[in-house]
Amino acid sequence: MTQNTFKKDVYSGLKSKPKSLSSKYFYDETGDALFQKIMASDDYYLTNADNEIFSKQTSELSKALTSKNEPFDVLELGAGDATKSTYLLKEWQNSGADFTYFPIDISSSMIAYLEGEMPQRIPNLKVHGFAGEYLEQVREANRYSKRRKVVLFLGSSIGNFELHEAHNFLRNLYDELHPGDMVLVGFDLKKNPHQILKAYNDSEGITRDFNLNLLTRINRELGANFDVNQFEHFPIYNPLTGACRSFLISQKQQNVTFIDGTEIEFQPFEAIDMELSQKFSIEDIDTIAMRIGFEKQPYFFDSNRYYCNAIWKK
Ligand SMILES: C[S@@+](CC[C@H](N)C(=O)[O-])C[C@H]1O[C@@H](n2cnc3c(N)ncnc32)[C@H](O)[C@@H]1O
Repeated sequence: MTQNTFKKDVYSGLKSKPKSLSSKYFYDETGDALFQKIMASDDYYLTNADNEIFSKQTSELSKALTSKNEPFDVLELGAGDATKSTYLLKEWQNSGADFTYFPIDISSSMIAYLEGEMPQRIPNLKVHGFAGEYLEQVREANRYSKRRKVVLFLGSSIGNFELHEAHNFLRNLYDELHPGDMVLVGFDLKKNPHQILKAYNDSEGITRDFNLNLLTRINRELGANFDVNQFEHFPIYNPLTGACRSFLISQKQQNVTFIDGTEIEFQPFEAIDMELSQKFSIEDIDTIAMRIGFEKQPYFFDSNRYYCNAIWKK
């Protein structure tokens, strides 16, 4: 991701009606650290549910993803700190499987961290990181190695796409794969709306800081003058559609200026659409797989059935 793309996306989002910013830009160094805090908070049930699946069903997951005894590449899209995938990678390493781990993340600091950290966590692990956009980096990884692919897309990051975008994204991913390649996609399931809302409005205010940090990033990298105290974090959940959306609400009429003279006007209580965290039913998940042409493989759930890691085969 170049600074130019960032600038172009920020300007186009803030000049649109309604205003929006892409949540993929949450992850600068401070954003990475805040996301780690979110994952450690009690209100963010997703991490505990997902950790339970990966720690308790490691062997079953591993078998469902790699039945054949041939070399493979593990592509992890939006790897983050790779806590969950570490369970699987350790299992494969201990069983003597021949594979390379390719973490992909838009956060170059996360990729640098993983390249240093992962061989310490798992001795002799082969790691090659790719910093950048998901699909661009999948293409890079495909150019780099022709081996069979196991793609991991965890943490319900698929829920950050609008439904039609998620569909297109997974179709494009499908097109990059070869018959027999496997995909594991994490989906947060529809559940008690209060519980969902709390995960995006935690009592310690970490998700608020995570959202506001993007304004701070824009100030620093694009020379803007957002007053973060004049924006309020406001998440909502719609149980009909399963969409949980976070907004930043301007607390007054205000103008924000950028170093190049660009000026953006905010009306009192005007919203910036910051992030979608879509929730799914099993039917939703099956429909996506079927429409794209993925063959359904086992689905893995935590004991509360809050979360589903779905495995599909091309
Ligand atoms: C919600 S976190 C999930 C992290 C990890 N997979 C987990 O489950 O804990 C999303 C991760 O994806 C990365 N990311 C977000 N948008 C991206 C994009 N368009 N391309 C590549 N990486 C992206 C972020 O930097 C972040 O590390």
